[in-house]
Amino acid sequence: MALIKHLPDLLISQIAAGEVVERPASVLKELLENSLDAGARQVDVQLMEGGTRSIRVADDGGGIAREELPLALARHATSKIASLMDLERVASFGFRGEALASIASVARLTLTSRTSDAAHAWRIDASSLSLTPAAGGCGTVIEAADLYFNTPARRKFLKQEATEYAHCDEVLRRMALARPDVAFNLTHNGNVKHRLGAADLPARARELLGPEFFAQTRVVEVNAGDLSLTGFAALPAYSRAGRDAQYFFVNGRFVRDKLLAHAVRQAYADILHGSRHPAYVLFLELDPAGVDVNVHPAKIEVRFREARAVHQFVFHALQRVLATPLVNALPHAPAPAPSPTWQGQRTLAVNEPAVAAYFDFVGNQPQQNDSRTDEPDADQAPLGYALAQLHGIFILAQNAAGLVLIDMHAAHERILYEKLKNALTGDRPATQSLLIPALLAASAAEMAAAEEHAEALEHLGFELAAAGPGELAVRSVPALLANSSIADLVRALLADLKDFPTSQVIEARGNELLATMACHGAVRARRTLSIPEMNALLREMEATDRADQCNHGRPTWTQLSLADLDRLFLRGR
Ligand SMILES: Nc1ncnc2c1ncn2[C@@H]1O[C@H](COP(=O)(O)OP(=O)(O)OP(=O)(O)O)[C@@H](O)[C@H]1O
Ligand SMILES: [Mg+2]
Repeated sequence: MALIKHLPDLLISQIAAGEVVERPASVLKELLENSLDAGARQVDVQLMEGGTRSIRVADDGGGIAREELPLALARHATSKIASLMDLERVASFGFRGEALASIASVARLTLTSRTSDAAHAWRIDASSLSLTPAAGGCGTVIEAADLYFNTPARRKFLKQEATEYAHCDEVLRRMALARPDVAFNLTHNGNVKHRLGAADLPARARELLGPEFFAQTRVVEVNAGDLSLTGFAALPAYSRAGRDAQYFFVNGRFVRDKLLAHAVRQAYADILHGSRHPAYVLFLELDPAGVDVNVHPAKIEVRFREARAVHQFVFHALQRVLATPLVNALPHAPAPAPSPTWQGQRTLAVNEPAVAAYFDFVGNQPQQNDSRTDEPDADQAPLGYALAQLHGIFILAQNAAGLVLIDMHAAHERILYEKLKNALTGDRPATQSLLIPALLAASAAEMAAAEEHAEALEHLGFELAAAGPGELAVRSVPALLANSSIADLVRALLADLKDFPTSQVIEARGNELLATMACHGAVRARRTLSIPEMNALLREMEATDRADQCNHGRPTWTQLSLADLDRLFLRGR
């Protein structure tokens, strides 16, 4: 039997490195965490050969004083905690005081740093611990080169450059999502891969996950006691074949936690096919005392004191958000560009009220977009409030009972018809003179009809005159129809008037003429309406008699109650 001996320091660190420094990406993670812990606003990363040749991280954080440089590299030396109490409430990424020592034991590490009160920077070489004056601004530059140069067994486990780079890229993405307020740049073999300016969470998430993610995403913002869950959860339409867009942060720290993963999977269970993976960026915040981050050397796992409560909270919060009707779940359109109010909050950390401010902002969007002042309260309006337009033909609206489907053209036609009729039964409809008369080519029969029925046309609000052989000029039209295609409208009216005795045309054919006018004046299919325009139409329908029937007797709208919808999905309520 060999004697029991103390291990040499280097070997202890190399053993520790086995847990912490799994690959270049883990070095990058530790260095980024240190930069953020040091209060950096800007972090620049340069990788060579997937990080195996070198990883250089430069930050503008608080720096390390000359006399502390050797300590920064020493094992079990940290500025971040001093007691068990500190550990239990730790808010920094680091607390073990061994990342740099571990990295230095398996790579060639140099650290250059300058605090704000130092005249210049100092550099320390980890292998010799020699200190030399150096150039550089306030902050810290750490370079770790030739990873595993002294541990060939580990080196063999390194994958291809592209694979190692992909892991580094993922580490940067996580950090960048956790701290959108910090600017990050990353180059690989001299090529710029990321250039992320300080931003807010939506802008940062959009940049990293792409607009497709946002087009299918629900905003999550749920609080219960001292638990809160915020962020974005994609609807099944954006589900992924892989787990590549799953970001869960606990108190700002990216974690991969079985309990949380299970809660999320369950929340999606009703709506996502088993082989698909949900996509999300979620931030769980809770009292630091309620979560133990000292479980795993790389701190990627956590342990919750009240695991069940956390599981239930995450599950219910997410399930509710995913089930909410679309109207309450902006941004279903591409996320709004950062508003001016937002710009001023750029420097806030993600855990701070900025997130709440953002969610308020997003949550208020429908109201802001809506020119109407009243809140969309589906209970108040019989036809509810518009959600969307379908194929340019139907308006989808939500009311207290459920879904309302409106035939946009038929509904508008009905409204115009009633209005034109009201205008006619009064003396004469309000007319609008056209500054530039509308000209239309007319057949001899049309020219004749225009002349014969001039009085009736005038009664309807039209003033026509021959502009030349085979050409009519329209000088005024009913104000209600001023926006329609005038040539088509007049041609249709003339077709109605043709072959009809002049004297009785209004009495006998008045309703038909009005119908023709209404039909031509109504919004055509495929016209894109804004939500306020759609809501205005709904309000006019409510104010118009018989608005539920179009002029051809077809219904203009139909109601699908929640029970009807349930039946469609064979679902009992
Ligand atoms: N970029 C940096 N800027 C300023 N100080 C730094 C930086 N990197 C490291 N330090 C200092 O060096 C110390 C050691 O860093 P190291 O990463 O080894 O340990 P840690 O961050 O305290 O804990 P952990 O091992 O959990 O990461 C830190 O506590 C910090 O004081
Ligand atoms: Mg650290």
